[in-house]
Amino acid sequence: MNIDVVKEDLTGVAGRCLLVLATKDGTLLNGPAQLGEHLKPLVESEEFGKSFGGTYYHLNPTGFAVQRVFFFNVGEKIEKDHQLRRATASAWKSLRGKGFSEVVISLDGLEGSAAKAVLEGLFLGSYQYTALKSDKDKLPKTLDQVTVHASEDVAELVRQTKALCDGTNRARDLYQMPANLLNPTKLADTAKAWAEDRGFVFSVLEEDTMRDMGMGSLLSVSQGSEEPGKLIIMEYEPEGGSDKTFALVGKAVTFDSGGLSLKPSNAMAEMKGDMGGGATVFGIMSVLRDLKFPHRVVGLVPSVENMPSGKATRPSDVVTSLSGVTIEINNTDAEGRLILADALTYAKNYNPDYVIDFATLTGACLVALGPKICAVMGNHPELVQAIIDGGQEYGEPFWELPLVEEYKELLKSQVADISNISSVRWGGTITAGLFLERFAGDFQWAHCDIAAAIFEKGDEVNPAGGTGIGVRAGYGAMLRMS
Ligand code: BES
Ligand code: MG
Ligand code: ZN
Repeated sequence: MNIDVVKEDLTGVAGRCLLVLATKDGTLLNGPAQLGEHLKPLVESEEFGKSFGGTYYHLNPTGFAVQRVFFFNVGEKIEKDHQLRRATASAWKSLRGKGFSEVVISLDGLEGSAAKAVLEGLFLGSYQYTALKSDKDKLPKTLDQVTVHASEDVAELVRQTKALCDGTNRARDLYQMPANLLNPTKLADTAKAWAEDRGFVFSVLEEDTMRDMGMGSLLSVSQGSEEPGKLIIMEYEPEGGSDKTFALVGKAVTFDSGGLSLKPSNAMAEMKGDMGGGATVFGIMSVLRDLKFPHRVVGLVPSVENMPSGKATRPSDVVTSLSGVTIEINNTDAEGRLILADALTYAKNYNPDYVIDFATLTGACLVALGPKICAVMGNHPELVQAIIDGGQEYGEPFWELPLVEEYKELLKSQVADISNISSVRWGGTITAGLFLERFAGDFQWAHCDIAAAIFEKGDEVNPAGGTGIGVRAGYGAMLRMS
């Protein structure tokens, strides 16, 4: 995608199509009022539609160099930036249906966050995963050229917005990749390739090293698979050094069959996306240099495949985690918390000021909050709030769940220090959070259960099967804690 930022008068900006957003009564949000004259009769005749999604296509607007104007109805007065994200994403999809691969848009008339949202709709809504399609000619058009007009200087806003959206889109690519093409080794290779390109340091702990260190919890998950597990380590250091360290920990189970506690087949196929927390951490790491993030960030991504086999962990097995805490594994499908436990303990080596983990951790989270909202829990209210606010800024909704003391006893084990599952069905997202707290409790820590990301059915802004959620909310949270 090529982006040109132009400051000249809009009348002189050339291009095939100018995208203009308008409310249902014909008030233009991002264009000169004189263009609205073309729209007025169509609003009166109701041809512009009475709600979000109505469109009107105008040829050769007098006095403008651009060849066409595409008006998009955003519905009522704008209440939330997300309405704008949905609008430009949706408008782009209409345009590409007409064979366009370019768009001109003006930011005049939009406030800071609204301008950002409009751009995000284009950068995120034009995402497609096409790597595995062979007939490239039959694919929907890609957005190759965006011309951004504004009377103010918006070049830096555009650059930063694009960089952050690229991070989300990289995370989406990882979600989409099937597990035969993205196993822990391939994921580590990807991080290695990105490291140079994106400006962070890469290393990996292999199974032998993890065994010597005593990461019995993480290894109990990978032992059933032919694919070796890894702990992928990424380190970003800002120029000039920093006095704060963030640790980001992301669950990357490249396929979660459930292990011997095998999932039913109708719940299994989506589990190629069980590396989503890792994808979020990769996505964030990939943008830090571009955005000149001012603090040190360590990304820790434990990556395994959870498979049944003669070597797999049996329900009731007891393992010793890196922290020394013994864990009775009563359900091998509650594996995410097992790999996170050791990664969280390992994070102590970096003496982080804040720790945030991301994980597609529990189906219960979908029961509690549905497919569009993620859960956040933690022991540091300011950090939890920073994630909620970061999510709010970028249209990635997070909702806090309580880590209630009373539920801790549900994780009691007869024979070990803790069980990896609760003794009751209810409140599974919270009990998973409480399990993690046992390993993260000494940090200023927040846990994000992003299970919803996998179940996205696809909307204007998000592709089906993996939203990349958390990249922007997480980045926004770190900025707030800077
Ligand atoms: N990866 C799943 C969680 C999941 C389920 C994410 C559905 C997205 C959609 C996780 O490893 C898992 O299987 N969790 C179990 C935990 C249970 C055994 C306590 C679950 O949620 O059923
Ligand atoms: Mg599982
Ligand atoms: Zn899982």
